[in-house]
This record gives sequence, structure tokens and C-alpha cells, in this order.
Amino acid sequence: MKDVLERLGIKEFNLGAYNGEWIGNADDSQTLKVETPVDGSHIAKVYQASAEDYDAVIIAAHEKFKQWRMFPAPKRGEIVRQIGEELRKYKSDLGKLVSYEMGKIISEGEGEVQEMIDIADFAVGLSRQLYGLSMHSERPLHRMYEQWHPLGVVGVISAFNFPVAVWAWNAMIALVCGDTCVWKPSSTTPLTGIATMNIVDNVLKRNSWEGILGLVIGSGSVIGERMINDKRVPLISATGSTPMGYKVNNAVAKRMGRAILELGGNNAIIAMPDANIDMLVRGVLFAAVGTAGQRCTSLRRLIVHESIVEGVITRLLNAYKSISIGNPLDANTLMGPLADTNAVNVMMNALDKIREQGGDILFGGHRIDKPGYYVEPTIVRATKDLPMVQEETFAPILYIISFKDIDEAMEIHNSVPQGLSSAIFTTNMLSAEKFLSHEGSDCGIANVNIGTSGAEIGGAFGGEKETGGGREAGSDSWKQYMRRQTCTINYGSELPLAQGVKFDIE
Ligand code: UN1
Repeated sequence: MKDVLERLGIKEFNLGAYNGEWIGNADDSQTLKVETPVDGSHIAKVYQASAEDYDAVIIAAHEKFKQWRMFPAPKRGEIVRQIGEELRKYKSDLGKLVSYEMGKIISEGEGEVQEMIDIADFAVGLSRQLYGLSMHSERPLHRMYEQWHPLGVVGVISAFNFPVAVWAWNAMIALVCGDTCVWKPSSTTPLTGIATMNIVDNVLKRNSWEGILGLVIGSGSVIGERMINDKRVPLISATGSTPMGYKVNNAVAKRMGRAILELGGNNAIIAMPDANIDMLVRGVLFAAVGTAGQRCTSLRRLIVHESIVEGVITRLLNAYKSISIGNPLDANTLMGPLADTNAVNVMMNALDKIREQGGDILFGGHRIDKPGYYVEPTIVRATKDLPMVQEETFAPILYIISFKDIDEAMEIHNSVPQGLSSAIFTTNMLSAEKFLSHEGSDCGIANVNIGTSGAEIGGAFGGEKETGGGREAGSDSWKQYMRRQTCTINYGSELPLAQGVKFDIE
């Protein structure tokens, strides 16, 4: 890893704030020690940003915004195109660092960087398509249309599980929209944030656009709190737990800011009796075990028709037995470690509760005894009333619940507080359409014969209910990063009023 760290500009001591150049103090009391979940060993230290450093980054982003917004959108797209190119050069290195710092397997680490490249490409095209509508005015010789203006500094608060891709979803779109962007990564994964800034720094310097992207590494209580309460940041895009989302939403609403929230999921697959079982098993495996169950889209609940449930369990138990668990940098590994010791404790506490509540653990359920934060992927047979089923545990725990008919399946499916991703496996068109209908899945993402995770960037990503309602990445998510202005122009020589109102002096 030494050569990878070197190429990405990661040193033993790293400053934790960037506003076109690396800034920060070297106060050792503020040091964040970063370790790898692969074996718990030390990687590097980061000096966390102080409140003053935070201010310096926001001020730079704010100043740069005034110039950046006047730079034509397709030219902004050209800068984003170069960022995409630069990311291509570093895909392998950055993918490895994602894997090493966060624990996901190397193929998923590289897949995450691919998501950054994909959203950069999407944003380049978008930079020529920030369309507004035009309307027909009810008044003669009047023209009415809407246009979209940049918002300002966008604050991105990202989570450890997708340490770089989610930033890119926000930052690439924000940039073409004419916004500047300040990023607060998770304190569990600061190095991938620093590496990403080092990569984009090459492009910004080459084009004299330093400062349009900023980074602040620090605790939620110092940096996060400041950012969500900061009137200079009109939009906060935050990914994390539902309790964190409540905090962000309340603070931002209090100052009439905007928030894009991407919070907890409790994602389910409904398996109908006519499902293709081979596809189902593959879909379940990737969704439940991929990223060690630490995607917000990870599969938590498998809702299976009673006529096939025993067969599906047998197939899954066999498949779970052959999952290779270990070093995520080894190409043969399918499941790496959890992110840190806290994640292991959260999983073990959840398993204690599941046992107390009468859940039947069919597979796994333990920590694996070796350096790093490895656990067994776990299958639990549960009833729909098991209280823990309502909660998102950010770990590889899969509940299997059986149902009698599709109405009951839909009822179980929609009975949780979260609403991110969902899927049905069926070869029956009527079941698929029911799942996608108004009385079907209540989630932001609904798939047929595909697992719950691994969405492409072209669609809008996000979910309903306690997932927070935000949408990021593709489709028309860009509109949240701009302000809409409705313009009416009178090219006549009279001043008629709308709605036929008369207001004339005789
Ligand atoms: C997340 O876990 O926060 O759909 C994002 C997926 C990925 C993104 C997940 N494209 O699983």
C-alpha cells in the first residue's frame, strides 16, 4: 500500500482542510488517527480542521462562487470532464485506498471510483442541458419563462460506507450548476477524502480554478454543527443515519436552507413462488453480503412465499458457507471487514436483541477471531412482528420472513419506517406491475429481478419516509442545486394586469 499512498499524496501527517491549498494547524490534540479495518493497523494521522480553518474554506468557496457562476455552464462542464479524466488515471489507486481505509472488497472499491467517473460524464452532458421551460402568458405581447441560477456553496456531509462516490454525485452536479462545494467526509474515512482532493487539485491548478472544491475534516460536533447552521451554505446534502438526518434537517430548516437527505434504509426483496431461484440467490447474496451489509441499499429483509421458503433457505445456507471472508484487497475475497470496532459492537448488540426477541439465527451470528473487524454474515428466520426487523442495523444481518399472498407481502414490505430501495423477484407480469403500482412499493427505488443495491448513477437516488426524501445523482436531481427564477417580459406598450384586474386612475 505504501506506493499507493505515496501516489495519492497521503503522508504520515496530513492537514485536514483544503481550499485550493492545504491549510490547518499542527495541534496534536486535534489529531485523528486513521487505521485500516483490514487488520486494525495504523495508516496515517490527520490534523482535524478548527473552526477557523472551516471559515477559511467557506470564505474561499464563497469568493470563488462569484466568479465560477459567471463562467459559462458548458465551460464548467469542461473542468468536470478533466476531473473525470484525472479520476480515470487514479481509478486503481483510489479504489485500493477505499478498500484499505473502509474495508469493502477491491472490486467494489474500484466500482465506487467508477461511479465518480460516471457521474462526472453525466454532469459534462448536463452542463449543456440545464433547461428551463417557457410558458404562454395570458397577457398579450408578454413572454414568460423560467431559468435556473446557481445557488452558492453546497455543503456535502458524506458517510464512511461510500467515502468518495456520494461526494462526487453531489460535487460534479453542483459544479456544472455553477455552485462551489465544501465537503466534510466521515471521520472514519478521511484519507480517501484527502486523496480525492489531491487528484482534483491537479485539474483545478491547471485551470486556475483552485477553491471551487473544498474539504474540511473534523468532528460532527465542531465542523458538522457549524456547517449545518451556516447561512453561507444554502444547500446541505447529507448522507448518514436517520437520527443524524433529523438533526441536519432541523438545523437547516431553522435558517430556511435546503437539505438533501439520504438516510437509513430497510430494504427488502419479495420472492414470489414463480421467481427464478438462481437469479434470486445471486441477487440476495450481493445485496445482503456485498460491502459486508454496509450499503444504505443493502438487503435487510427477504420476504419469501411460504411454498418456496425452505428451498430458498437451503440454497442460501449453502451459498453463505462458501463466502470467502478476509482481506478485501485479495481478489478472491467476497466479504471484507466491518468499518471499525463500533460497527462490530453495533452488530453484536443487535444479535443479542434478536436472540432475546425470539429470532432464530440460522447462520453466522459471531465475530471472527482475527485482527481487524471481521464478522460472519448472518441469516435470521424471523416473523414480521420481530421488533428488530423495524430497525436498520448497518451490518450483514438478513431476516427471512415468509408470506401467504402478495397482499400480505406488500403489507410486510411497507410496514417499516424507512423507504429507500426495494425489489421483487417474479416471472409473473401481474405481480411485477402490482409491486410497481401506487399500492405497491413505497420506496424511492423499486426493482424487478434485480437486488436492492448497486443502482446506476443515471437515475435519481434516494428514498421516502425516514430515508429523508432527498434525490441525488441523475435524472433531474440537478434542480435542487440551483434556484428557479420565473421571468415575465412585456414587449408591448401597455401594462395589462394578470387575472383581468383593473387598476387605473381615471
Ligand atoms: C450508499 O450506500 O450510501 O445503489 C449509496 C448502491 C450504490 C450507492 C449506495 N450505487 O448501492
